[in-house]
Amino acid sequence: MIRKCLFPAAGYGTRFLPATKAMPKEMLPIVDKPLIQYGVEEAIEAGLTDIGFISGRGKRAIEDHFDISYELEHQISGTSKEALLDQIRDVIQKCTFSYTRQIEMRGLGHAILTGETLIGREPFAVLLADDLCVNDEGNGVLSQMVELYEKYRCSIVAIEEVPREEVYKYGVIDGKPIEPGVFEISKMVEKPRPGEEPTNLAIIGRYILTPDIFDILRKTEPGLGGEIQITDAIAEQARKGLVIGYNFKGKRFDCGSVAGFVEATNAMYEKFKERNGDC
Ligand code: G1P
Repeated sequence: MIRKCLFPAAGYGTRFLPATKAMPKEMLPIVDKPLIQYGVEEAIEAGLTDIGFISGRGKRAIEDHFDISYELEHQISGTSKEALLDQIRDVIQKCTFSYTRQIEMRGLGHAILTGETLIGREPFAVLLADDLCVNDEGNGVLSQMVELYEKYRCSIVAIEEVPREEVYKYGVIDGKPIEPGVFEISKMVEKPRPGEEPTNLAIIGRYILTPDIFDILRKTEPGLGGEIQITDAIAEQARKGLVIGYNFKGKRFDCGSVAGFVEATNAMYEKFKERNGDC
C-alpha cells in the first residue's frame, strides 16, 4: 500500500517575482486556498496521508499553514468566520507532515533524492503542486494512479498529450499502449529540442515511484541544465523493467506559468461561486 507523498517545494518561483520574493510560490492563493493545499487534498483523496515536503530557505509559511494557529482559532471562535478553517483543519487532522531541506538547487531528481530520508524503502508518490489537476467526473489523478499501481506494481508517470510546439517544456515519453490510456515506456527525454521529440506525450507532475529510484538517482549524472533529472532516472528504471505512462482522466492547469495560474483561478472561482454565491 502507498502511504507517502513527497512534495518538492524548494524552488524559488522566479516566474512570479516580486510576488514570491518573501512568500513561497506554493502559498500563492488560487481563490481561497494556497496552491499546495490543492495538492495535499489530492493526496489525501488517494489515501496518502503521510506528507513529506522537500523544503528550503524562505518556506516556513508552508509549515505554519499545515499547523494549528491558536491565536487565530481563539479570535474567530464562535463567529461566522470559524467555518472558513474547517477544510484546512480537516487536512491537518488527517495527515502527518514531515520536512527536510534541499540545501542546494540541483534539479528535481536531486530534490526527490533529498526526500529519501522521509520515505525509506517503500513505494511513494511525488506531486508537483505547480500542476493543479481536477477531475469533475471522478477520482483525482493520484487516486487513479494508486489504483493502477495495485495492478502493475511499478513506477508510473502521469502523461498528457500536448501540442507539438509545447513539448519542449516537458519530459516526454515514448512507448507502446498496453491498455487504453496506459503505455509501457521505452524511452524518456527531458525537454527535447524542437523537432527531436519522440511523441507529444508530456509528463506532468504526478509520479508513483518504487524505492529503487533512490539507488538510481545516486548514480544519475547531471543532465539537462547541469541538473539531476528525475526523467533520466526513471528512464533508467524503464531500461531495466516495466515503467508505465498513464494518460490520466481530468484537467491540468500549469500554475507554474502566469497564464495557467490565471486560468486555474478563473476555473476555481466558478466552483467557489457555486458554493458561496458571488462575493
Ligand atoms: C518538471 C519535470 C518535467 C515535467 C514537468 C511537469 O519540469 O522535469 O519532466 O514534464 O515538471 O510539470 P519543470 O516544470 O520543473 O521544468
